[in-house]
Amino acid sequence: MNKLPEHVAIIMDGNGRWAKQKGKQRFIGHKKGAKAVREVIEVAAEQQIKFLTLFAFSCDNWNRPEEEVSLLMKLLVSSLKKEFNHLIENNIQLKTIGDLNKLSLTVREELYHVIEKTKKNTGMVLTLALNYGAQEEITNAVKAIADKVKNNIISPEKVDQSTINEHLYSRFLPPVDLLIRTSGEERISNFLLWHIAYAELYFTKTLWPDFSKENLLEALINFNKRERRFGKTSEQLTN
Ligand code: IPE
Ligand code: IPE
Ligand code: MG
Repeated sequence: MNKLPEHVAIIMDGNGRWAKQKGKQRFIGHKKGAKAVREVIEVAAEQQIKFLTLFAFSCDNWNRPEEEVSLLMKLLVSSLKKEFNHLIENNIQLKTIGDLNKLSLTVREELYHVIEKTKKNTGMVLTLALNYGAQEEITNAVKAIADKVKNNIISPEKVDQSTINEHLYSRFLPPVDLLIRTSGEERISNFLLWHIAYAELYFTKTLWPDFSKENLLEALINFNKRERRFGKTSEQLTN
């Protein structure tokens, strides 16, 4: 593959339907989904992807039944504990985007621990979107900028794309090159709106728990065939 995406973002969807198809509780789907996460992280790192961003829990997912939310949070903590060595061995740096304040102290402590211990790693940056919503993120950025304008820290004429970018949770991320969504749904569900401006979109019917190494490689091969024009003509790109 000659064109690799620098930043791959994934909306990991379909855990519930996977479980339902098998006549099992939704949570079994989430557990199997966590295993798929491990494989995808490994393959992405192997393929020299620099940034992998995973949508793990949206602001709107709080509206699910309390029991499901609480099991998802427990699964997050146990996965962080389980995958810790794996992240270290693979030189992966863990980061998050989203408002962590709404997460319980146990979840936050485990996250901070792994973030701290992996922050000097120089390999792939793995970002988990937790209690994340892109509209919320942009709204917070606008509020912070408005506050700086009010206090004469920046002048309104100076506000440009980079000002907005610098005030996002995801300011450390480059633009998304490839956005994958599993489970056959073809929507963005409030994920990374700012960063997907020119992302190539890839939708697959595979449910997240079934998403494997082969599926990710297929998405990367598909990305390789795309012509990204960024507003230019095709002729300009080949000259
Ligand atoms: C994705 O799978 C996991 C989370 C959103 C946490 P879902 O739980 O949304 O699975 P479906 O969409 O109900 O099948
Ligand atoms: C998006 O999936 C959020 C995550 C994958 C964490 P949802 O399943 O919550 O999205 P909708 O509700 O189908 O749009
Ligand atoms: Mg879903």
